[in-house]
Amino acid sequence: MFDTQALTHLPKPEQYLQLSMQARALMAGERDRIANAANMSALVMQALPDLNWAGFYFYDGRELVLGPFQGKPACLRISLDRGVCGAAATTRLLQMVPDVHAFPGHIACDAASRSEIVVPLIHAGRLIGVWDVDSPIPARFDVQDEMGMQALCHIYLESVFN
Ligand code: SME
Repeated sequence: MFDTQALTHLPKPEQYLQLSMQARALMAGERDRIANAANMSALVMQALPDLNWAGFYFYDGRELVLGPFQGKPACLRISLDRGVCGAAATTRLLQMVPDVHAFPGHIACDAASRSEIVVPLIHAGRLIGVWDVDSPIPARFDVQDEMGMQALCHIYLESVFN
């Protein structure tokens, strides 16, 4: 058993430092993309405060297909021209949305979501999918979350592809 702990009491850089170490330990020796995605979703959801959804969409060559996640049931497929996830996949740039209601085309899977961060997963120039995290708090994510989430995604991609 891997004992995950809420990191709410720590400053954000420390939260992500701890999370990165835990993610590395969880994924060590395992290359299965579903297994590691499932544990990363659970780890982040358990450890970070004020989240209502954390999970993966994988690119199947045509659109984004729902992968492992924690939170309410979500849209199964997202075309690349839709939503925050589609924007991250198409531009290959991290999307940080402080107010999802102000984002044109935002897809509301959970009505509680107020802000969102989506990291594109790119390996060897190829789009693998996106990592999507939602919060019920407006403007929940900042540049520290941006760096921390990118670090976690890097650890995930390394575990699967190296
Ligand atoms: N809000 C996302 C859809 C996925 S759910 O948040 C889980 C979007 O607009 O792409």
